[in-house]
Amino acid sequence: MTMILGLESSCDDTSAALVSSDRRIVAQAVVGQNAAHEPYGGVVPEIAARAHVEILPGLIGKVLGEAKLSIDEIDAVAATAGPGLIGGVMVALLAGKGLALAAGKPLIAVNHLEGHALSPRLVDPDLGFPYLLLLVSGGHCQLLEVRGVGEYRRLATTIDDAAGEAFDKAAKLLGLPYPGGPGIETLAKSGDPAAVPLPRPLVGSGEPHFSFAGLKSAVQRAVASGEYRREDIAASFQHAVVDCLVDRTRLALDRSDAPALVVAGGVAANQAIRTALADLAKEHGRRFAVPPAWLCTDNAAMIAWAGVERLANELVDDLDAPARARWPLDETAEKVRGAGVKA
Ligand SMILES: Nc1ncnc2c1ncn2[C@@H]1O[C@H](COP(=O)(O)OP(=O)(O)OP(=O)(O)O)[C@@H](O)[C@H]1O
Ligand SMILES: [Mg+2]
Repeated sequence: MTMILGLESSCDDTSAALVSSDRRIVAQAVVGQNAAHEPYGGVVPEIAARAHVEILPGLIGKVLGEAKLSIDEIDAVAATAGPGLIGGVMVALLAGKGLALAAGKPLIAVNHLEGHALSPRLVDPDLGFPYLLLLVSGGHCQLLEVRGVGEYRRLATTIDDAAGEAFDKAAKLLGLPYPGGPGIETLAKSGDPAAVPLPRPLVGSGEPHFSFAGLKSAVQRAVASGEYRREDIAASFQHAVVDCLVDRTRLALDRSDAPALVVAGGVAANQAIRTALADLAKEHGRRFAVPPAWLCTDNAAMIAWAGVERLANELVDDLDAPARARWPLDETAEKVRGAGVKA
């Protein structure tokens, strides 16, 4: 049995967790910064980095205290090393390096996306490799074949916005707080998903890539027209996103013989999306797995778990491991036409 301390600070959630190789989350603490960023309608990198510096040391002490463990009793320190806001990424990584050096423990520099990608295995011991992963988060929208720890093949990515970014932008247009996903999901419950005609960008196209920028512009026009109720716009928007995710994932399933479909990342907290993808997996005779909602958004338990998996594969890092603002899971994937700077 191994015990890993995980640290996360790549965006606007500060978190520390202790996770053991027998899949116990021994302790976890997460502190969000929504209130600090809300007035700006998005995450302000400098505010986030400063807050991580203030919050993280206390959380490390808290989880070790709750678990009644000293740093000498853990097997390794796993810290997010990217991708993300570089000032934030540096906080957990440097804290992790300091602890690893002081305690003489291995450092594991975790790709945050690998944290999301492996998170379903933390709660589902029967989920083996390979699986087709729909990674839908604030910064990413990708379909990947997960073949093993550290082995990823990207089948598709977004050519403009990420799915979570689309939720956040639509929410802002509807006057909902940041992050927008939960607010849209709640408002959509009392709306009519067929009320507002919205586009489904790239649906039916031959490559399983994603696009959400046009959908956002259409929401903007619907709001400006004054013709529709807010709840109807929210419901119609969410329905359009579900249609896009299902259509693109269906194409990827046709091209992959992986026996399971897995969805992870913050947007996977959305119940309508979970249900639609579960139905799609069933239709294709694949197993379906999705982590509980609390494990979908940013947290250090998934980083610690990625540490467990990497340590088991003897994948540890030197103390000069760099903090990386960009860090694609599949480093060989080509940039798609129309894609911006996203990994
Ligand atoms: N219930 C929900 N429905 C839809 N979207 C949601 C829901 N809950 C959270 N989200 C979205 O998930 C995103 C946050 O996810 P996550 O924390 O994984 O992203 P991130 O860490 O900012 O980005 P990345 O993981 O790509 O670096 C936000 O865009 C948020 O609006
Ligand atoms: Mg994330």
